[in-house]
Amino acid sequence: MFTRFRRKRYNETLRDLLQETHLSVNDFIYPLFVRSGENIKKEVDSMPGVYQMSIDEIIKECDELKKLGIKAIILFGIPDIKDSVGSDALCEHGIIATALKEIKKAHPDIFVVTDLCFCEYTDHGHCGVLNPRLNSVDNDITLQNLAKQALIHAKMGADMIAPSGMMDGMIKTLREALDSAGYSHIPIMSYSTKFASAYYGPFRDVAESAPSFGDRRSYQMNPANRNEAILESLEDEKEGADILMVKPALAYLDIIRDIRERTLLPLAVYNVSGEYSMLKMAARAGVIDYEKVMMETLISFKRAGADIIISYHAKEAAKILNC
Ligand code: PBG
Ligand code: ZN
Repeated sequence: MFTRFRRKRYNETLRDLLQETHLSVNDFIYPLFVRSGENIKKEVDSMPGVYQMSIDEIIKECDELKKLGIKAIILFGIPDIKDSVGSDALCEHGIIATALKEIKKAHPDIFVVTDLCFCEYTDHGHCGVLNPRLNSVDNDITLQNLAKQALIHAKMGADMIAPSGMMDGMIKTLREALDSAGYSHIPIMSYSTKFASAYYGPFRDVAESAPSFGDRRSYQMNPANRNEAILESLEDEKEGADILMVKPALAYLDIIRDIRERTLLPLAVYNVSGEYSMLKMAARAGVIDYEKVMMETLISFKRAGADIIISYHAKEAAKILNC
């Protein structure tokens, strides 16, 4: 007879030796919201600590990120003018195109990912061009526009493209467009399993992108469907995605694990705005130990099988990890 030793009771060093999952500053991609102007750094009411920033402020922010050891950002644009097709995103002088050029000039060593979608640029707030007969997005016309948007990002210096619109055939279209224009070296991180989620609420405040009618259920997934969630990611792998993603993260840890066990591609999770704001508001109300709950949440993504974490908590987590 023997009894297994009880790890929980052992000392700190052994506890560290036996730790199975680790969180590192290298795991993070930090989201940034860019708008035109100068000296603009406007905090978002629903997301304390998250700002809409002009390009000059983003460039300063990148200095701070580098000091913290965070080397990757994902950019979202807030255009001055929105219209039915999202023209700002299809123009080499649009907000993201301009930001990319200036950020890469100031910080060639920052890895810049761009979110590829139209909901921030259309006046109706949907993720592409509308088809009046469907009263929703026209998949195939939107694919053509996504290809144009991707080529602008690539030309302006994006290091990786992250299409988030969940259009059918999106990855294949983008891979072909990038390859044939000489950008075969640019990887695609697909928002491959993206649920129609109420957790995106605060993001739509900061990006000013709430749909003016209807919702995104015709192109985003039903939170109740596990098999479909797995299939969607595997489909994007077949089309040539380099990195897959599950979004949101916290309510979908099972799906992260499911996909992890079925692909050898790297897997990202998006710890979305609503997840962030819930912790911030709970901290304000004095009901949780914010830093501990945050770190416990972030490690759960790694344990579930994620390699990359896109999170508004990245800076706060880095400060803790660095000390
Ligand atoms: C679409 C996009 C969204 C998010 C990331 N990319 C919004 C949406 O699908 O409505 C959500 C991120 C978050 O909630 O933090 N461009
Ligand atoms: Zn969108």
